[in-house]
Amino acid sequence: MKQVPTGIKGLDEILSGGFPFPSVVLVAGEPGSGKTTFGLQTLFNAAAKGERGIYITGISEPIDQIQAMMSNFSFYDPETVKSGMVKFLDIGEVLFTDGPSTALDLVTNIVLKEDIKRIVIDPITTIAFAFNDPKLYRKFLHDFFVTLKSLEVLTILVAEFSPELITQPESFMVDGVIFMYLQNIENPLVFKPGIQIRKMRGVEHTRDILRLGFTKDGIRIL
Ligand SMILES: Nc1ncnc2c1ncn2[C@@H]1O[C@H](COP(=O)(O)OP(=O)(O)OP(=O)(O)O)[C@@H](O)[C@H]1O
Ligand SMILES: [Mg+2]
Repeated sequence: MKQVPTGIKGLDEILSGGFPFPSVVLVAGEPGSGKTTFGLQTLFNAAAKGERGIYITGISEPIDQIQAMMSNFSFYDPETVKSGMVKFLDIGEVLFTDGPSTALDLVTNIVLKEDIKRIVIDPITTIAFAFNDPKLYRKFLHDFFVTLKSLEVLTILVAEFSPELITQPESFMVDGVIFMYLQNIENPLVFKPGIQIRKMRGVEHTRDILRLGFTKDGIRIL
């Protein structure tokens, strides 16, 4: 099985080499737990090694706001954005005016045309809003994942889940689930970020919750 580096310091060792490739990995967690940082850090670090990536968002946060916040991190390089090695795409409007299958076609075309190897969708929960029927959403996800696998890409789906929502269909359908926490274990007044690999098909890994550090270089396993 092929594996690719995550771009998160300390995580490749825990995943015995990185993310399976191709694969779909869900990065789920509570507000402010570091999901967007995780997604963009992996895209920019891969781009620095010559791998093209795309960051897809919609209705959650405006792109210029995300870029402004991420520019505080050393991995964020405006030149990488200018050269198109990391592309930003807002699918909110296409999703709600033309529908999810048009949005999926748009993404597929860009990925093929631009030889993109890494996709981050932040958050996938936005796409769920475009469906009235959960069965149709699940069918869409299935078709979407089949398409993504055939494209030979790594896809990171960001999900706004609390730990109780981990049994959402997305978790069962993906190859990997990474959970990001803000926990107050030792002191009720002190919240510390944590990360846990819930599953990673084909990879041996710990299921312990590991402490996560935020620095100017992004997130890292402590
Ligand atoms: N330069 C920095 N140094 C240290 N910590 C930072 C820095 N920048 C951001 N943070 C921390 O990261 C958090 C936000 O991370 P991020 O936006 O990746 O989380 P998120 O899970 O995507 O949040 P949301 O649920 O709002 O989408 C901030 O609340 C802050 O605690
Ligand atoms: Mg976010």
